[in-house]
Amino acid sequence: MEIRKIGVVGAGQMGSGIAQVAAQAGYAVVLRDLEESFVERGLSTIRRSLAKLLEKGRLDQATHDASLERIQTTLQLSDLSDCDLVIEAIVESEPAKNELFRDLDPLLKPTAILASNTSSIPITRLASVTKRPERFIGMHFMNPVPLMELVEVIRGYLTSDETTQAVLEAARRMGKTPVEVNDYPGFVSNRVLLPMINEAIQCVMEGVATPEAIDQIMKLGMNHPMGPLTLADFIGLDTCLSIMEVLHRGLGDDKYRPSPLLRKMVQAGLYGRKSGRGFYRYDEKGNKIG
Ligand code: CAA
Repeated sequence: MEIRKIGVVGAGQMGSGIAQVAAQAGYAVVLRDLEESFVERGLSTIRRSLAKLLEKGRLDQATHDASLERIQTTLQLSDLSDCDLVIEAIVESEPAKNELFRDLDPLLKPTAILASNTSSIPITRLASVTKRPERFIGMHFMNPVPLMELVEVIRGYLTSDETTQAVLEAARRMGKTPVEVNDYPGFVSNRVLLPMINEAIQCVMEGVATPEAIDQIMKLGMNHPMGPLTLADFIGLDTCLSIMEVLHRGLGDDKYRPSPLLRKMVQAGLYGRKSGRGFYRYDEKGNKIG
């Protein structure tokens, strides 16, 4: 099945990034959110990112202009009805996603594929609220989407080979390298990444070292582009906690127990870069202070 038009639901950090890379790849894109201001914020993120890529010579002027023209925005779910692939990138809440999929499923063409960008909710469970579990799949993009090469493609229990192939091909056309995994808690990316971040947080809690020292050790010693605590702030401490809870609940092993310090910081409203404070402090543009 050829994918020509892609719908993206949710114009936040991830959704706007996905809409952007799809448009850069030549797909017609419909970006949907609940309020005009959310859609506008998503579009300005896309404009800023495209301008940066143009400035760096990673994009020519014609592709820059054509990418922006290919993105149509809407507040109506019904405007996604002629899309061949719809990628959900809304808030990481299972009830909210279920409600969306229940509403969206009957509006789409029978051949359309539904994908979720969830970072940890089981794909098989999300698929089960639709009448198209064989055409339901996980497409887990990494943040920042325009720069990161990976798309983790998660097959639900009933996802068909045809759906998987179509999605692998679409990800490649977006300039990404898709890697296929099966549906287990945290998939692969977060099952491996988050326990490392959680352990770094335990090190802070136990006074093993300062956040700066821990980040420096992992950057200089292991060549990680960001230290684990800078990365935790970047992902969002609330998201980190929710992924650790999924791993802990889903795998039932205490090695996945969320750090009490992580829990306490989230309770205090310290979500990382998006709230201005996590392990570090940030200005309103999201740049680290100090
Ligand atoms: N679009 C275009 N350009 C962007 C951009 C975007 N969205 N985001 C950043 N840039 C630009 C920056 O503005 C910067 O430009 P200048 O050089 O002109 O300042 C340039 O890219 C490079 O950025 P930096 O010099 O600040 O930093 P860097 O060289 O380290 O690269 C990075 C930035 C690619 C984000 C790198 O730090 C990195 O790879 N970090 C790790 C990211 C990561 O692990 N992501 C996965 C998170 S986990 C996840 O997403 C899944 C989940 O479910 C939790």
